[in-house]
Amino acid sequence: MLDNIGFDIWSKEYDKSVEKGSNEYPFDGYYSVLSYVYNLIKNKEEINVLDIGFGTGLLTNKLYSERANICGIDFSQGMIDIAQEKMPNGKFIKWDFNLGIPSQLEKEKFDYIISSYAIHHLDNDKKVEFVSNLKDLLNENGKIIIADIAFKTEGELINCKDINSNKWDEDEIYMVEEKIVPQLFNKGIHSTYTQISSCAGILEIH
Ligand SMILES: C[S@@+](CC[C@H](N)C(=O)[O-])C[C@H]1O[C@@H](n2cnc3c(N)ncnc32)[C@H](O)[C@@H]1O
Repeated sequence: MLDNIGFDIWSKEYDKSVEKGSNEYPFDGYYSVLSYVYNLIKNKEEINVLDIGFGTGLLTNKLYSERANICGIDFSQGMIDIAQEKMPNGKFIKWDFNLGIPSQLEKEKFDYIISSYAIHHLDNDKKVEFVSNLKDLLNENGKIIIADIAFKTEGELINCKDINSNKWDEDEIYMVEEKIVPQLFNKGIHSTYTQISSCAGILEIH
C-alpha cells in the first residue's frame, strides 16, 4: 500500500495514469464512477462538500467551478498542492484518515461528504467506524457518497482477483456490498450500493 510519499510521487502523473488505465482493474469505469457521483450533486449552488482523499481534485474541481464550497482531507502534500492550484479557495487539510476526523472539522457541517478511490485504505471495521463518525458532520438531509473499487459479492471480488492476479493489490481492502451494507445497518446506518463497472461501485448513505 502506498504511503503519503508514494502518493506525492504519483501525484505528478496521476491524472494521466488513471486516464490510461480507465478500462481495466483497478480503474475500470473511473470516469463513469466520477460522473455518477457528480450527477448526484451537480447544479446545487453554495453547498458545502467534504472530499476524503481528494487527490488531484478531478471530481471536486467540477463542483468547485459550480460554486460549491470545497473542503478536503488528504495525507499527500503533492496531491494537496495540485488540488489547491486548481481550487484556490478550497480548504485542504493534510491529514491521515486512519486517525479519524481532524479536529479542524469537528464543528463543520456538510451537505455532501464524498470519497473516490480512497477508502480502500481502511479495513472493514475502520470503514464502518469512519463512516459513522462522518455522519456527525452532515447537515440535515446531507449525504455521504463513497465511490471505490468495490463488488456486490465476495464471489465477484474473487473473480476479479483471479482475472487480475498479476496486478491485484493484496494490501487494499475493497468494499463488498453483501458485507458492508449489513455491517452499516447493524450500526443503524442505511445505505444503498450501485455497481458501476467490473470493479467499481458506489455506496450512498443518507
Ligand atoms: C487513488 S487516489 C484517489 C484520488 C481521487 N479521489 C480520485 O478519485 O482520483 C487516493 C487518494 O487518497 C489519499 N489517501 C490514501 N490514503 C490516505 C490516508 N490514510 N489518509 C489521507 N489520505 C489518503 C492519497 O493521497 C490519494 O490522494
